Amino acid sequence: MKFHVPLKRVVDDSYDIAIGRGLFATMAHDVAHGILPGANRIALVADEKVASLYAHEALKALNAAGVHKVTLFTFPAGEIYKTRETKAKLEDDMLAAGFNRDSGLIALGGGVVSDLAGFAAGTFGRGIPFLTYSTTLLSAADASVGGKTAVDTPAATNLIGLFNQPRKVYIDIDTWKTLPAREIRSGLAETIKHACLADADFFLWLEKHIADIASPKTCALDAAACEHIAWKNCEIKQSVVVRDERESNLRQVLNLGHTAGRALETLMGYELLHGECVAIGLAVQCAIARQLGTISADDEKRVIALLAACGLPMRVPERIPVAELVAKMHTDKKSRGGRIRFVLMHGIGHMKEFDGGSYSIALDESFLEDVIGSM
Ligand SMILES: NC(=O)c1ccc[n+]([C@@H]2O[C@H](COP(=O)([O-])OP(=O)(O)OC[C@H]3O[C@@H](n4cnc5c(N)ncnc54)[C@H](O)[C@@H]3O)[C@@H](O)[C@H]2O)c1
Repeated sequence: MKFHVPLKRVVDDSYDIAIGRGLFATMAHDVAHGILPGANRIALVADEKVASLYAHEALKALNAAGVHKVTLFTFPAGEIYKTRETKAKLEDDMLAAGFNRDSGLIALGGGVVSDLAGFAAGTFGRGIPFLTYSTTLLSAADASVGGKTAVDTPAATNLIGLFNQPRKVYIDIDTWKTLPAREIRSGLAETIKHACLADADFFLWLEKHIADIASPKTCALDAAACEHIAWKNCEIKQSVVVRDERESNLRQVLNLGHTAGRALETLMGYELLHGECVAIGLAVQCAIARQLGTISADDEKRVIALLAACGLPMRVPERIPVAELVAKMHTDKKSRGGRIRFVLMHGIGHMKEFDGGSYSIALDESFLEDVIGSM
């Protein structure tokens, strides 16, 4: 006997990204007017650092808009807390506080908060609506857009997660004022990545303005530059995501610099920030691309010079054995059939499409060890 269950999904996961300054009142107004459908209670989730800086403002704005049933949940700041354990604790705390399926969630913070809280929203009560209020340049540049949510495991970063789109994203540039210089640099690495993969003019603009954008000592971001950076990052990321939400091929290009970068991040126990590892990963990718002839020596020099101008690292730390780094690359999500795969630049502002139309190419471990060893 056979019983057929006819279930077809027609999904519209479209959402808006608001880019501006001081967006708490806008966000609160949207919540009051149903941006989180069916939510009678709101979980405001932040790490402890972000909560100490911005939770009061968020709560005040929500209350002023008439949204009173809001509970703040926090966890310690830092990548080492983006774990299944932290997610479980958040879920247990929400359950203990009486949260149910008629809840909504606000992820207030950087990429760690939106990745973890977005994942929790996707599984709590089999899914509750959430929005992201982004407070870091890195999250504005990358993490807040695209709906990838996840936690890290001891094996590697971001392996356990969901595609779960937020109902809206708020990129509040004013919050970048309190970011330490190192975090700004980390965000600039993802910004350079976007320029490298999709926009030669934006790369040129970064080259011209980098001295004003990131002054070497303070890394104080020039006000007008912030808007431009936020806008360009969203434009580039969303244009890729809308064409390949589930990363069947094209979306892999957003992984530029991440094959080596993510491996390094895990191997170093998160001592380096995500963007710092991406910067090193971009340099590794440049060395490979030059060997394979998809970029010129001049292109490579320009990428390295831009990373250097931001004060970002570009070399694999000596204490990391190259063979170990390459072995760790097997945990990369692009790996297929036991082969490590890379996405590579094709000149500045373009990505190489390989034979068969794939944007990634399988590379031998010995080749990778030679190239990285000779950097
Ligand atoms: N989902 C995606 O598509 C995607 C893309 C890129 C990166 N990521 C993930 O994003 C994470 C990195 O993001 P991140 O750099 O925003 O990390 P983060 O959220 O840990 O923020 C970095 C640090 O800055 C602090 N902070 C946040 N906002 C602040 C502010 N306004 N002022 C002062 N301090 C502030 C945080 O407490 C934290 O200590 C990684 O886990 C990475 O895997 C995800």
